[in-house]
Amino acid sequence: MKDLRCPLCHRPLLQNIQGLACVNRHQFDRAKEGYFNLLPVQNKHSLEPGDAKEQLQARRQFLQAGFFESLKLRLQELVPATTETLVDIGCGEGYFTAGFSEVMPRAQVYGIDIAKAGVRLAAKTSKERTGLTYCVASSFDLPLADDSMDVVTRIYAPSKDSELYRVIKPGGKLVIVAPGENHLLALRSRIYKEVRPHSLPETPAGFVRAEQHRVEEDLRVGERDMRASFLAMTPFAWKLAPELRDSILDGELRDTLDFMISVYSKN
Ligand SMILES: C[S@@+](CC[C@H](N)C(=O)[O-])C[C@H]1O[C@@H](n2cnc3c(N)ncnc32)[C@H](O)[C@@H]1O
Ligand SMILES: [Zn+2]
Repeated sequence: MKDLRCPLCHRPLLQNIQGLACVNRHQFDRAKEGYFNLLPVQNKHSLEPGDAKEQLQARRQFLQAGFFESLKLRLQELVPATTETLVDIGCGEGYFTAGFSEVMPRAQVYGIDIAKAGVRLAAKTSKERTGLTYCVASSFDLPLADDSMDVVTRIYAPSKDSELYRVIKPGGKLVIVAPGENHLLALRSRIYKEVRPHSLPETPAGFVRAEQHRVEEDLRVGERDMRASFLAMTPFAWKLAPELRDSILDGELRDTLDFMISVYSKN
């Protein structure tokens, strides 16, 4: 675990029987699902930070059904074959994280999320997979050593530029996935009077934009319980008036998926 550092004193974390520890005897036990909790209580600003369990479970159901498979396949193609270390920050229930690990059996892949419920769900599913480690931690204070990652992925999650810069190796890559201008346009236009286009993320300090890709396709959700999962995992859908919500649940859901993938290089 040479890539992981102690969230309290920043010294390297080494494996022991119970889990991980640093030279200053800060101990972090391995949970029974196989993940590590590296979020110090003082950095926990609420009892259950991050996405709620119900939201993560809905996302799990929707993603497992394959609705975001095109995005997963494109991301798998974009990761360089020479990657030795990758961290997926804000990994949620680990759909994309596990996807990276599948195509890079020799790499060490980390999934980090502030929501324990997400990390638990992710770790439970890939308990047997070597080279895939999940941690509860914040992307604003990553438990990773300086210059340790070949690739950082950030799929619909927050981050802090200086932390991204700190953990990526010189010449390493940062992959950010954000909604494109047509993403869920039909749903958004039923909620907002004026639908504002999503703007592209700004290039984080210390990086240069290397590539831009777009994955755009129709979304058709034929089953009622999948439509319910979709609404539960989409925060702005919570703003729907009850009658609109019911009409979406009862009718067929037709919309557009539009993802912008920005790839940056660290100078
Ligand atoms: C929309 S979900 C995306 C999850 C996953 N990347 C995916 O695409 O399936 C955003 C995730 O960011 C996590 N998150 C929010 N704030 C965070 C933080 N400060 N550090 C790490 N993760 C955070 C949430 O708990 C949630 O799982
Ligand atoms: Zn320590």
